[in-house]
Amino acid sequence: MNNPFLEHTTAQEYDRLLGFPIIKTVRKKESQILNNLFEKYLRVNDTVLEIGSGTGHYSMNMAKRVQSLVALEPSAAMSNFLEKKISAEAIGNIRIITSSFENYHSKSTFDHVVAIGVLDYVRDGKNFLERCLGLAKKTVIFTAPQKGIWSAIYALAARREQKISIYRYTKKQLENYLSGCEIQIHETAFTSLLTKGMTLVVVAEKNNSKKTE
Ligand SMILES: C[S@@+](CC[C@H](N)C(=O)[O-])C[C@H]1O[C@@H](n2cnc3c(N)ncnc32)[C@H](O)[C@@H]1O
Repeated sequence: MNNPFLEHTTAQEYDRLLGFPIIKTVRKKESQILNNLFEKYLRVNDTVLEIGSGTGHYSMNMAKRVQSLVALEPSAAMSNFLEKKISAEAIGNIRIITSSFENYHSKSTFDHVVAIGVLDYVRDGKNFLERCLGLAKKTVIFTAPQKGIWSAIYALAARREQKISIYRYTKKQLENYLSGCEIQIHETAFTSLLTKGMTLVVVAEKNNSKKTE
């Protein structure tokens, strides 16, 4: 499986990495955008499927806003780490399932399907997003590396250091994959006049979704 978190990166290392100033800086705007989206879309009676929950960086935030959250994570180390966090914070509405999305076959649907930092590793992004849309009643919220100089450097480093592929996308490509939805795309991480941002934060709102603002 093209996933560095199964072998190369331990859960503790990843969680420590998230606290590094450089990573915090890179993810600051992404976190702000995601927080605003959670604020706008997540409601107390809603259910969430979070694909690739990792150590729960966003899970806790979302769980506090909704009725229940299923945290889907293929790495047992990440799942165990999140389990401990949940116990420590006495959060009762997160259920962890240790599985990849590809091996997860749910009969239930969810109000929101969220995948942050996951599409990077997914070979068939189109199919992945179509499945997300199939499971979501209201929105699919995700991030994806945007094709450009920064993500090219990121992909090169991942190939060299971890022997994994990083899949990168254009806005057009994502718009095509999500046709039929109302889409907002935010660009973040190293965005400048000369360079495209490394990360796209996307919300695809299903047309039947009714917002309560
Ligand atoms: C960069 S981490 C992001 C974790 C968390 N969402 C965050 O923002 O901190 C990517 C996570 O996606 C998981 N992942 C990778 N491929 C996956 C797949 N096919 N299905 C489900 N999760 C996957 C990894 O195990 C890892 O925990």
